[in-house]
Amino acid sequence: MSQSYIMAIDEGTTSTRAIIFDHAGNKVADAQKEFTQFFPQPGWVEHDANEIWNAVLSTIATAFIESGIQSQQIKGIGITNQRETTVIWDKNTGKPIYHAVVWQSRQTSELAAAMKQQGLDDFIHQRTGLIIDAYFSATKIRWLLDRIPGAQEKAERGELLFGTIDSWLVWKLTGGKVHVTDYTNASRTMLFNIHTLDWDQEILDLLRIPREMLPEVVPNSQIYGQTLARHFYGSSVPIAGLAGDQQAALFGQLALEKGMVKNTYGTGSFIVMNTGTQATISQNNLLTTIGYAINGQVHYALEGSVFVAGSALQWLRDSMQLLDSAPASEAAAFASKSQNEVYVVPAFTGLGAPYWDSDARGAVFGLTRGTTRNDFIKATLQSLAYQTRDVVDTMNADTGLPIPALRVDGGAANNNYLMQFQADLLNIPIERAKNLETTAMGAAFLAGLAVGFWRDTDELQQIFQIGQTFEPVMKAQDRQRLYAGWQRAVKATRMF
Ligand code: G3P
Repeated sequence: MSQSYIMAIDEGTTSTRAIIFDHAGNKVADAQKEFTQFFPQPGWVEHDANEIWNAVLSTIATAFIESGIQSQQIKGIGITNQRETTVIWDKNTGKPIYHAVVWQSRQTSELAAAMKQQGLDDFIHQRTGLIIDAYFSATKIRWLLDRIPGAQEKAERGELLFGTIDSWLVWKLTGGKVHVTDYTNASRTMLFNIHTLDWDQEILDLLRIPREMLPEVVPNSQIYGQTLARHFYGSSVPIAGLAGDQQAALFGQLALEKGMVKNTYGTGSFIVMNTGTQATISQNNLLTTIGYAINGQVHYALEGSVFVAGSALQWLRDSMQLLDSAPASEAAAFASKSQNEVYVVPAFTGLGAPYWDSDARGAVFGLTRGTTRNDFIKATLQSLAYQTRDVVDTMNADTGLPIPALRVDGGAANNNYLMQFQADLLNIPIERAKNLETTAMGAAFLAGLAVGFWRDTDELQQIFQIGQTFEPVMKAQDRQRLYAGWQRAVKATRMF
């Protein structure tokens, strides 16, 4: 009998990937394709949903061709995706009415500000767990329905469908048969009541969003539908796992106990804490979100989204031309002789959690005549750790839960300087996953559980491995001094 596998489709902000895992959790194929970023106006970010769909098909093909694995050997597909990004398409023609409006896009800032002015913050926070912001899908839907002539009427007649990228891909893969989203993606729309687990009619009325256009909301691990054979190289395969990428990483890190926290150092940094089966509403500007829903049980999470992390290294590389590559920042930081007196606050697009200050802009402090390129790079790298500490401290304050360790993944988690500094700054061990593909792994785990490829989460525990642990070594007084300096730097940045 030929071997069987699970495929994860990881559709991110800048590229999409198709990864095939075997039963032992080994990655046996990995194909990736970038797609176009459209910036039609300053601050706007858009994608072409059809280009994403074609990129997904092409990565699936490449994964099969390069590995020699055939489509009938895939027992289930898990999809994970950039969250919040909003697509609206015509139910009959399948054509998007406009580009997908990306999570980073600020074109609906005014709509979000108007909601705040109406004093809706508390109401929205209680219902959805979120803080009113252009980041989430709700204002993006309103904007699209206003922008495209006749769209509101068509939506009211049930002719248009809304989806985050997970919905779009499931709809396409099933030939338009299945229109769903999962709890984690729904919980990022700012339309979903995370307590009743349904679209919130009052919020829909407020924004005049017709319920008819919304997908059915489903748990994270179950068979939602089958691929059309012609879209999956001859086989009709169950789509059996769905989750937003940060929640998929939480699941892929097997952070399944209350109090466990993961951080993914990607373009941004997304720190997510499992808070168990009760929703914790943050008193300190963290987001309450759904972590995952499996076996009939919803698990909640607190999330701190840091908008600029790895992209600060890209800035050093591309705009400042201080680095040849982001990984080169490790050697530069180790070579720096500074006493950590330089602080870089990379508030390029404002500050995310816990500040939510969209007006803040970046700043550098503590420069002397002796400051070198390496010191500057080190300070930029340290900003990833400082921002993480801001969020982890807030999680502590909100939950009172002890945080035994931080599980990490994402590109910059490879940076040993950063990981050691992070351990020192938090004074807890940093556990780096052996396989840094935790996002794709999480999607594969969810699909594999639904189709019986893996028995249960106990079996998954045997697959997940920690590669390296970084223990804190810094003296308490140094830690306090450094962090106090960061807090002064952030304060000064916000006063500018
Ligand atoms: O909330 C946005 C997040 O899901 C994007 O993740 O990895 O595509 O940058 P990523």
